Amino acid sequence: MNIAILGTGAGARQHAARLGALGHRVVVGTRDPEATLARTEPDMMGTEPFAVFHRAHPELTLATFAQAAAAGELVINGIDGANAVAALTALPTDALAGKTLIDYAVPYVYQQPGDAEHSWPTPWGEMPRLNPVDTDSLAEQIQRALPETKVVKTFVTQEQETVVNPAEFGGGDHTMFLAGDHQDAKAAAGELLTAYGWSDIIDVGPLAAARGLEMYAHFHTALGLALNGRFGVKIVR
Ligand SMILES: NC(=O)c1ccc[n+]([C@@H]2O[C@H](COP(=O)([O-])OP(=O)(O)OC[C@H]3O[C@@H](n4cnc5c(N)ncnc54)[C@H](OP(=O)(O)O)[C@@H]3O)[C@@H](O)[C@H]2O)c1
Repeated sequence: MNIAILGTGAGARQHAARLGALGHRVVVGTRDPEATLARTEPDMMGTEPFAVFHRAHPELTLATFAQAAAAGELVINGIDGANAVAALTALPTDALAGKTLIDYAVPYVYQQPGDAEHSWPTPWGEMPRLNPVDTDSLAEQIQRALPETKVVKTFVTQEQETVVNPAEFGGGDHTMFLAGDHQDAKAAAGELLTAYGWSDIIDVGPLAAARGLEMYAHFHTALGLALNGRFGVKIVR
C-alpha cells in the first residue's frame, strides 16, 4: 500500500521504518525536503538529523507534506501537535479528501510566554501544556477542519517503539486504543495495528474520546519518569 507519514520526528521515523520493512511504499512528508536533509544538528529531543536516518533507510521517499499526502492511500499525521492543524489545512484539499488520517500527535505547547526554559524530559510540574484540552482535542480540531477526511486517533498511549512492534517488548502483552467517528477508517487503522502485531485493540468510541487519549500524555510522562525505563499499558478485564 502507498502510505504517507507526515512528519520527520522520532515517532514518524518509527512508523516509516516499520512500514517500509512490512513492504509498503512509504513517502515521508516534511516542510522542505532539501532543508530537512541539510540539517546536521539533533532536534530538541536529541533525535539525530533526518539525513542520518534516511541513509539507513534509502527505501523511503522524502517529499513535501503536500506531495506525501497526495501519494498516500492511508495517511499518518506526525506533525508537531501545535502546528498540525495549520499544516494540514494548508494542503491542497484533494490530498486528504476521502482518506483515513491516523493522528498520533499530542497538542503540547512547549513554550508559552512566562514558561521557564526547559529541556526534555521536564521535571514534573513543568510539563508542556496541552491545547486544546478537556472539552476538545487536536484530533477533533483536525476532523472539523477536514470534514471530508476520516480521522482516527491512536498510538499515543504507548511508547513509539512499542507502537510499531509490540512483540518486541514485554512479550507483546499490551493494549492499544483507537477512537474515531468513521467505522471504515477505524477498521483501516485496526488493520495497520494488527500488521504491527497488536492483538488487544480497544475501540474507545467516537473521536471525542481522543480527549482522554491525548490528556493521558501527562500521566505517560509521569510514569516514564517514575519507572525510568520502558513500560507498556495493559487493560485487565
Ligand atoms: N507514541 C506516540 O504516539 C507518540 C510518539 C512520539 C511522538 N508523539 C507525538 O506525535 C507528534 C510528532 O512527534 P515526533 O516526535 O514524531 O515529531 P516532532 O519532533 O514533535 O515534530 C516534527 C514534525 O513536525 C513538523 N513541524 C514542526 N513545526 C512545524 C510548523 N511550524 N509547521 C509545519 N510543520 C511543523 C516538522 O516538520 P519538518 O519535517 O519540516 O521539520 C516535523 O515533520 C508530537 O505531537 C508528539 O508529541 C506521539
